[in-house]
Amino acid sequence: MLAVVTGAGRGFGAALVDCLAGAGWDVVACVRAGAAAGPRGRVRTVVQDVREPVGAELLAAVGERGLDVLVNNAGVGAPGRGLAEVDPQSILHAVDVNVAGPLRLAQALLPRLVAAPAPLIVNVSSRLGSLSAQAAGEFAGRGTSYAYRVSKAAQNMLTIALAQELAGRVRCWAVHPGRLTTAMGGPGADTTPHEAADRLVRLLSSPDQRSPRYLSLDGGDLRW
Ligand SMILES: NC(=O)c1ccc[n+]([C@@H]2O[C@H](COP(=O)([O-])OP(=O)(O)OC[C@H]3O[C@@H](n4cnc5c(N)ncnc54)[C@H](OP(=O)(O)O)[C@@H]3O)[C@@H](O)[C@H]2O)c1
Repeated sequence: MLAVVTGAGRGFGAALVDCLAGAGWDVVACVRAGAAAGPRGRVRTVVQDVREPVGAELLAAVGERGLDVLVNNAGVGAPGRGLAEVDPQSILHAVDVNVAGPLRLAQALLPRLVAAPAPLIVNVSSRLGSLSAQAAGEFAGRGTSYAYRVSKAAQNMLTIALAQELAGRVRCWAVHPGRLTTAMGGPGADTTPHEAADRLVRLLSSPDQRSPRYLSLDGGDLRW
């Protein structure tokens, strides 16, 4: 089985690469900067900023094989919690990384995805991107930035749009990883990135055919 993981240099992406390789997957790990390391066991590391067009290095690392799973994990948050301080540019930047990034990867890798027997795109989302939950005030008072909320809601809509266009060919899921003890994780973080990555690796072998699907790694489906 072959997976591509973006944002693999640290945090959840790095843990996911470890867990996938440990479970016997071949992995193309995309990092944003630095020299691409040579192959490390089942892992091949390439440089790919998701704000840029998908490069020849990544395409060559995937090669002609079918790509079983694309995990669009790279993501950014932003400051700007209230109307007075939010910089509109921060929204454009977050949408570029969190929405256009997964779109670029899906476009470039679609021919390899459809060559796999049961391909899946996982967009690493957030429960904070749920329009229904946010509209119901479930996260009121958390002070999440405009850029994060707007971009994760838009990323969820991208997941739905991809799922509808690729129905019967590629399943598309939006996955909330839990509240992780990473640089992005807040003070209430209660899950290590490796715990969450183990859960996602188990989920990847699920035969569940639903698409689109929005779920949390710490328990069940979420409302869009
Ligand atoms: N942590 C949480 O509690 C939590 C909760 C819900 C959802 N999530 C989601 O989970 C995913 C991973 O988060 P995390 O907690 O692991 O965050 P993190 O520790 O801040 O790591 C973010 C990763 O994204 C990469 N990245 C940022 N901009 C990029 C770009 N333009 N191109 C390529 N890579 C880029 C970073 O690369 P560099 O090292 O080069 O900066 C880093 O590897 C994100 O999508 C996040 O929204 C996290």
